[in-house]
Order: sequence, then C-alpha cells, then structure tokens
Amino acid sequence: RKTAPLPDDIRAMKGGSPIVSLTAYTTPMARMMDEHCDFVLVGDSVGMVLHGLPSTLGVTMEMMILHGRAVARGLQKAMLVIDIPFGSYEESPAQAFRNAARLMRETGAAAVKLEGGRHMAETIGFLVARGVPVMAHIGLTPQSINTLGGYRVQGRGAAAEALLADARAVSDAGAFSVVLEKVPATLADRITAEIAIPTIGIGAGAGCDGQILVVDDMLGLFTDFKPKFVKRYATLGADGEAAIASYAAEVRARDFPAPEHTFSDKAPE
Ligand code: KIV
Ligand code: NA
Repeated sequence: RKTAPLPDDIRAMKGGSPIVSLTAYTTPMARMMDEHCDFVLVGDSVGMVLHGLPSTLGVTMEMMILHGRAVARGLQKAMLVIDIPFGSYEESPAQAFRNAARLMRETGAAAVKLEGGRHMAETIGFLVARGVPVMAHIGLTPQSINTLGGYRVQGRGAAAEALLADARAVSDAGAFSVVLEKVPATLADRITAEIAIPTIGIGAGAGCDGQILVVDDMLGLFTDFKPKFVKRYATLGADGEAAIASYAAEVRARDFPAPEHTFSDKAPE
C-alpha cells in the first residue's frame, strides 16, 4: 500500500486480515508505526499518558489539535483517526459536528472517534451524513469513568444484551468501525459476528476484526501501570531510566563527555 486507507477501506477489512492499530501522540512515534499500522489513533489517552492527568476528562480540543498535527506529520501510509474529547460532542449533534469538523480541518484526520452506543447513534448519523466518518467506542468508555464507577470489565452476564444493542446501534447509524474496550472475549466474538462493521478490540480477545493498544503501554514506557490486556513488547521505561542513571554517573565522574564528543580549538581539515 502506497497511500493511507480511507475509512471505507478500513470498513472493507471486516472479516479479513486483522486490522492493526496503535495510538500515537508525537511525530517520531507516528513515524515508527506508519509502515506497520492500518490506522493510528490520536487518543485522548494523551492526557494521562503524556500530560500526567488523572483521567481523560481534562483533555481539551487544543490538546487534541496540537498532538493531532504532530502525529499527522509522521504519517504517510496509515490512516489518522482522532478522539473528540470529553465535553466537545455530547451536548448535541450540532456541537459534535462543529468540533469534529474543526479536528479534521486542523489536523487532517480522516475520521473522528467518539464514545457511546445507543445514546450517540443520532449524533453518529448526523456526522456521517455531513462528511465526518465516525469510529465508535463502546464497552469501557473512559470519559464516563465517573458514572461507570471504575475501570471494570463491561458487558458481563446480563449486561451483554445492552452492549450488543449499543454495537448494533452504532453500526446501523453509519459508524465505519467500533472499538470494544475491556469486554469478555465471548461477547466480543458475538458482536463481531452480528454487526456489519469491523470491531477493534482492546481487552476484547483475539476474535475482533482488529486490535489497538496504547503505544506507551505496549512499549513499556510506564513502569507502574499495566492492565491485564496490555502485552509489553519492550521495556523502554526501565531501559530509559537505566540509561539516565548511566549518564548521571558518567557526568559526576567526568567520563562524559569523552574526547569524541568534544570540540578542539582547531577547525577540522
Ligand atoms: O484514547 C485512547 O487511547 C483510546 C484507545 C485506547 C482506544 O481511546
Ligand atoms: Na480515547
């Protein structure tokens, strides 16, 4: 593939080779994953991952635009999707369109992602009819942490039917895909079989049409936070701290900088 897929191309991957995606917040991270991912999400997880916020609730449109522009500069082959932050779309379809259009216009993102199932179906239809492709996000929706009452697994037992209804609603409303976060694998499999659009799982088992992870989590950039659904493919946080400790020791011993890092008074020939 030479150019980035469009939302319809992602939709067409339903039932085929699994869709690969990660979050990114900066240009170098985007460059690292551009060759390997079908789409890259500028998640509102940026607030927790890069800014030290306690939840995603404090993330603003301005933060999303700043990071969205940085990620866009690093992508050529992967599609860019951006989260609409808390408080920027829930009030009305018109509010959602205004802010979704601004995110797309100012970052070049091909699509937006918003959290919510049946109660967001009207908004999804409104956006799609006006040129905004929508990725939905159901199950554990971190922007609703204060009403969900914690980061628990969603859709267990009797709650399964409600989640299935949410999945059907966003699919019928015109979303081109849906993120399933932290739901039992059996339910994710059922949803994947029953709806027309690709399911993108995070803590939803291997049966989804695609997978997403927070890149800092899978690279092990955090040392103190690892949800069960994250696999660490590297330990960059621990490696980075060890490197910094070596630097500090060498500076204190005057071992760094060495002659090869140092300029002489003579210009090179
Ligand atoms: O903000 C985010 O990183 C997300 C993904 C985990 C799906 O919404
Ligand atoms: Na998010």
